[in-house]
Amino acid sequence: MIRLNDVSKVYDMGEIKTEALKGVDLEVRNGEFVCVLGPSGSGKSTMLNVISGLDTPTSGKIEVDGMTISNYSSKELTKFRRDYLSFIFQSYNLFQTLTVGENIELAAKISENPLELDDVLAKIGILEQKDKFPSQLSGGEQQRVSIARAVIKNPKIMFCDEPTGALDESTAKEVLGVLEMLNKEYKTTMIVISHNPNIGEMSDRIVKLNSGRIVEIKVNETKKSAKEIAWT
Ligand SMILES: Nc1ncnc2c1ncn2[C@@H]1O[C@H](COP(=O)(O)OP(=O)(O)OP(=O)(O)O)[C@@H](O)[C@H]1O
Ligand SMILES: [Mg+2]
Repeated sequence: MIRLNDVSKVYDMGEIKTEALKGVDLEVRNGEFVCVLGPSGSGKSTMLNVISGLDTPTSGKIEVDGMTISNYSSKELTKFRRDYLSFIFQSYNLFQTLTVGENIELAAKISENPLELDDVLAKIGILEQKDKFPSQLSGGEQQRVSIARAVIKNPKIMFCDEPTGALDESTAKEVLGVLEMLNKEYKTTMIVISHNPNIGEMSDRIVKLNSGRIVEIKVNETKKSAKEIAWT
């Protein structure tokens, strides 16, 4: 369970102070698939950063599975991230001089309980690409490699910031299908940030941010599969 209690974040740059989060309260159950929507600058990435301990809130409390991470030192946060979390971004951030298999093995090496490499590759549909280099793959395939790398450590929570931002519709749906499968198969909590409201259709809940505040939380009664969602 992730619990945010009155969480605020102010970026203080001397003259200019930006209140990126203003008293945010939110709970996310383990295994939940949550879509975070909101216009540019509304605080989506900031919220992801403070929940994942990449940044610290200015005030408020953040708990993850009973650990009060808002009190953690940067060393404790590093360990927390390593043991608990994975990230996927719009850019794939793969090592260009390593093969697909080597990119993912690298992540497996620094985790306590990694999943089996070929299993993960097969599940994500890139087993045949194992010995290729990133430059020999399509965008969608590269994003699958970055998902495989995120998943090999068997994280409890996966944070995805615009995971399909650089992909066309059919490739994006395939990538979302992979996130859906991981959420079902491994019970991984998924927090997916997007500009695309259609991703809400495949989520358990939709959290809408505006100007640093949660303006709406909607439970999605009729969850669609990634394949079925509209794309506009
Ligand atoms: N490191 C930083 N230093 C100063 N201000 C920041 C920093 N990061 C974000 N901000 C400001 O905080 C506000 C929220 O930014 P944030 O990146 O969370 O928005 P977002 O919803 O993720 O937007 P986008 O959809 O464009 O990614 C913005 O006004 C932004 O300029
Ligand atoms: Mg952002």
